Amino acid sequence: MSARPEERPVAASQRPKTTVLTFAEKRRRGEKLTMLTAYDYPGAKLVDEAGVDAILVGDSLAMVVLGHPNTLSVTMDEMLHHARAVSRGASRALLIGDLPFMSYQADAHEAVRNAGRFLQEAGMDAVKLEGGRAFAETARAIVRAGIPVMGHVGLTPQSVNVMGGWRVQARTADSARALFDDALALQEAGCFAVVLESVPQRLASFVTERLEIPTIGIGAGPGTSGQVLVLHDIVGLYDRLAPKFAKRYADLATPLRAAVEAYRGEVESGTFPGREHSYAMPEEEWTAFVESLRARPLKAAQG
Ligand code: KIV
Repeated sequence: MSARPEERPVAASQRPKTTVLTFAEKRRRGEKLTMLTAYDYPGAKLVDEAGVDAILVGDSLAMVVLGHPNTLSVTMDEMLHHARAVSRGASRALLIGDLPFMSYQADAHEAVRNAGRFLQEAGMDAVKLEGGRAFAETARAIVRAGIPVMGHVGLTPQSVNVMGGWRVQARTADSARALFDDALALQEAGCFAVVLESVPQRLASFVTERLEIPTIGIGAGPGTSGQVLVLHDIVGLYDRLAPKFAKRYADLATPLRAAVEAYRGEVESGTFPGREHSYAMPEEEWTAFVESLRARPLKAAQG
């Protein structure tokens, strides 16, 4: 039986632009929110066309694209450079710029200015920052400036040195309580959503039920309002770190490597480029060219 018109799923390309209101509505309707990272034009185009609700230009850029061991070294200017490419590739997803390490920690004025740069210079719709109660006032100041903020608690990679490594957070009663208080403070500060990273699934479900804003989980189980993963993890283009929540949906490294090897082999053997990849010249033009060399020898032409 075919679905009635109003029940038919809307093709990804026809969906309207996602806004923070879409986030609130989907949460209210109990529909899952989807978010993925992207760092360039082709990645953003792909994620956007696939109908994902939000694209995060994550500071994971430092690791999966720039090859750093953690997220600490990526700068605001590097983030903006990639965010601009993402906004050229996406037309529908909500675009979120991730405030990098030291772009918002030192003072709230600088935080507001850097958040503003993401919207003004790179076409982002919102920003994300890491930290709970300690950064609630910063989040409030950014929201007051008219910039939607997504919070991020649990494993916050910019604090990897304080946490002593990439570890699951909030596994004790006290730390679970602290995480809950952090999430509440971010909601109270005006954040439109909060990422819960690497926390026990029970706790993530509990926080999701108690908050009015959507939660976006990564390593937080199925009970959050939505999920986020790193694009390079899900397509098998990053293998330096493999957390158990980073499900691999494709192994693109194998066909990409095979394509590069085939190209190298064909160039070395002379099979590429073939006629179909080369340009022809009309016979009479070639004859005229050869004639011109006879009439005006190369040495004279150079002089
Ligand atoms: O930088 C990032 O990719 C993130 C995530 C939430 C995946 O912050």
